Amino acid sequence: MSTTMQKIGIEKVKHSKIDQVDFDNLSFGSVFTDHMLVCDYKDGAWETPKITPYQPITLDPSSKIFHYGQSIFEGMKAYKDTENKVWLFRPLDNFKRLNISAKRMAIPEIPEEYFMEGLKALVEVDKNWIPQKDGSSLYIRPFVFASGKGFHASPANEYKFLICLAPSGSYFSGKVKVLIEETYSRSANGGVGYAKAGGNYAGQFYPTQLAAEKGYSQVIWTDDNNHEYIEEAGAMNIFVRINDTLITGPTSDRILDGITRKSILQIAEDEGIATEVRKITVTEVVEAAKNGSLKEMFGAGTAAVISPIATFGFRDVDYDLPELKDSFATRLKKRITDIQFNRAEDPFGWRLEV
Ligand code: PLP
Ligand code: COI
Repeated sequence: MSTTMQKIGIEKVKHSKIDQVDFDNLSFGSVFTDHMLVCDYKDGAWETPKITPYQPITLDPSSKIFHYGQSIFEGMKAYKDTENKVWLFRPLDNFKRLNISAKRMAIPEIPEEYFMEGLKALVEVDKNWIPQKDGSSLYIRPFVFASGKGFHASPANEYKFLICLAPSGSYFSGKVKVLIEETYSRSANGGVGYAKAGGNYAGQFYPTQLAAEKGYSQVIWTDDNNHEYIEEAGAMNIFVRINDTLITGPTSDRILDGITRKSILQIAEDEGIATEVRKITVTEVVEAAKNGSLKEMFGAGTAAVISPIATFGFRDVDYDLPELKDSFATRLKKRITDIQFNRAEDPFGWRLEV
């Protein structure tokens, strides 16, 4: 830790609630650890973060987060290996992306040291909460929002940066069925789609509810110009495999630059899988599904890891994907999770020990 940052204060809970948690049946993001990190922005500067017991926070009703939605977040995970060592995966990339989101939402950027040292200290304090069951990990949610007061529609003068931790199992339960969306849009050119801004998710809920009424668990968003190209899903980037080529769309100001997505691309290249980063038309995916050349479709994200898509719907027709024995999804998921859980070499230098 450099001398510019004061020591992070740690106030520990008197009684841990860890005994109340059923670690064998964890859902996603619904139980929280004993502690959280809190960092306040006041008088033009971020104060040194502190670790406190996990607890509710009090806000003025006029706080700008409630009225103007100035809020951003990140999603990352900590993994425990068989020797109880704790690992983070590409945390600096999450830090950088948080500040990209901050800039777009006129939120003051977080100093790197506050994020990285605060994150490591918090994970260390609650390391007993990191599940070791296969498929489970500690989901980490850093977020920043406008706590400053006032109805004036302008950036707040006070903010809070928090990190909360949630031991979690899989994001999806059961088969993933997605709907290719043509009416609603998630993001627009020049908009905030590339930022992890809270409102991007709120805006997806209604179209996703409509899709759920038809039996789909997720929406695949298409470009807002003509709904011609596949962009991404609600909480993950999308890959398609046509014959033996793995394809994903290019990131843009409408699409989140997913850390899993770019890791998968690198691993696939390392595995000798042919990859293409190019625009994917809805028409080519539908045609490929019809003629049998569409072999796989999967989502990639921190929460979702790699989630194979079993069926996609388009204009009232459902297209089932084949169940392959040796799928790219299975191969790539094994490679990435082996790196994350320290079960294999990390030739890319992505793991960071806490
Ligand atoms: N796209 C969206 C909209 C997301 O919310 C996420 C999840 O963070 C992703 C893609 C995947 O990003 P990452 O792999 O960095 O988690
Ligand atoms: C993540 O994968 O970390 C995300 O942020 C997705 C989230 C909306 C659950």
